[in-house]
Amino acid sequence: MEKTQQFISQHKDKFVAELFSLLRIPSVSADPAFQQEVAACATHLAAHFNDIGLDGVEVIPTAGHPIVYAEKIIDSSLPTVLVYGHYDVQPADPLELWHTPAFEPVIKQTAIHPDGAIFARGACDDKGQFFMHVKAVEAMLQAQELPCNLKLMIEGEEEVGSPNLAVFVRENKSKLKADIILVSDTGMLANDTPSITTGLRGLSYVEVEVTGPNRDLHSGLYGGCVANPINVLTQMIASLHDENMRITIPGFYDKVVELSNEDRAEMAKAPFSELAYCEALDIQSTHGEKGYSTMERGSIRPTLDVNGIWGGYTGEGAKTVIASKAFAKISMRLVPDQDPIEITNLFQKHFESIAPLSVRVKVTPHHGGEPVVTPTDSSAYAAASRAYETTFGKKPIPVRSGGSIPIIAMFEQELGLKTILMGFGLDSDAIHSPNEHFGLFNYFKGIETIPYFYKHFSEINS
Ligand code: BES
Ligand code: MN
Ligand code: MN
Repeated sequence: MEKTQQFISQHKDKFVAELFSLLRIPSVSADPAFQQEVAACATHLAAHFNDIGLDGVEVIPTAGHPIVYAEKIIDSSLPTVLVYGHYDVQPADPLELWHTPAFEPVIKQTAIHPDGAIFARGACDDKGQFFMHVKAVEAMLQAQELPCNLKLMIEGEEEVGSPNLAVFVRENKSKLKADIILVSDTGMLANDTPSITTGLRGLSYVEVEVTGPNRDLHSGLYGGCVANPINVLTQMIASLHDENMRITIPGFYDKVVELSNEDRAEMAKAPFSELAYCEALDIQSTHGEKGYSTMERGSIRPTLDVNGIWGGYTGEGAKTVIASKAFAKISMRLVPDQDPIEITNLFQKHFESIAPLSVRVKVTPHHGGEPVVTPTDSSAYAAASRAYETTFGKKPIPVRSGGSIPIIAMFEQELGLKTILMGFGLDSDAIHSPNEHFGLFNYFKGIETIPYFYKHFSEINS
């Protein structure tokens, strides 16, 4: 991979400029107002894939946003790597909290990224990360060092639960035939502590609506006499955790796989500072399920969180009113072997059962996803581990992550393929938040590390 690495080191400015072009396209999948921009982003990528010499480039329309596909098949007897990523991004709101505009990428230094970081929506999640693969592949092609076959599938709907990619995968099993799926859409522990993500949590997401009286009421005339939906909703939500921060929904923990003491001891070896964690978030202490460490609470344990809550009067000044309705959006992060549909049903049954007679409740399920755990005894893990060792000079630590990528479990079910999660972002990169960024160190380390994965994976599997 010597010529590949040489090409990378000689084209760093070009690689940054090209990522900037991608980041300037506001491909927000959740908001229909951005539909044109999402489509433009797909077209832009396809053109770029053609430019760097990939074959079979397609912008594949779906019932939602398009999928971009490309491949390089050099020899059918060699292994095939299927790279997955997403070009869609989260909405940039709240815009006023960005120090520079979300879709005008700039490089700024931070304490954690002294070499500079690229600030823009999608810089880390996931444009900057899947683009590392595009650049690594370009470098291998230019150096004539691509050691195996490659398929690239970049979707535009990950941030909205991949509804149409699931359909595409089911209908295109032979097109997607491969030996391993490679994804950079997660993080690592720190720039001097490489890690490989070995698990993702699943997700169950619901919206609840509590209805009291048939109209908003004067809180003096009616206050004290009728149930206030906001009061009721907040009480119902509060009751979903007990004093040990365990979730009170009957059956919620039934299928949770408990880790052995050995596995927990192994996990505890990953470096983690409770103090640094609190300082970075300006909090006095962490909070969570009794009996588990912060690392465990954020990865191997399930959660229930309110993501948004509204109702009544929230404008300027005071308005004395008892609202007719109150709403909340609630996410539950799931771990093996919890099933998102089952958990959604348990939630719905329980939430309805705890509603007082004075209100009506409605539970609407949103997208979900299954949890995944990836093996550490596979040839792909060994190849990735060696790749990190080459570029970081250290063995990566296996770490289960708290985030979700719903399509990963589906890849295994439908294509029978395992995934290797080589993420290069940091938790502090503010993904989904204002001022999202991706370190230049991380971007280039990713581009440099990926070719070694191809090399080792091909050697082991040929
Ligand atoms: N890339 C993230 C998931 C992620 C980030 C996993 C960091 C591990 C570490 C992905 O784009 C994402 O945001 N997923 C959503 C789920 C989706 C259905 C909206 C999530 O985890 O909230
Ligand atoms: Mn992502
Ligand atoms: Mn995301």
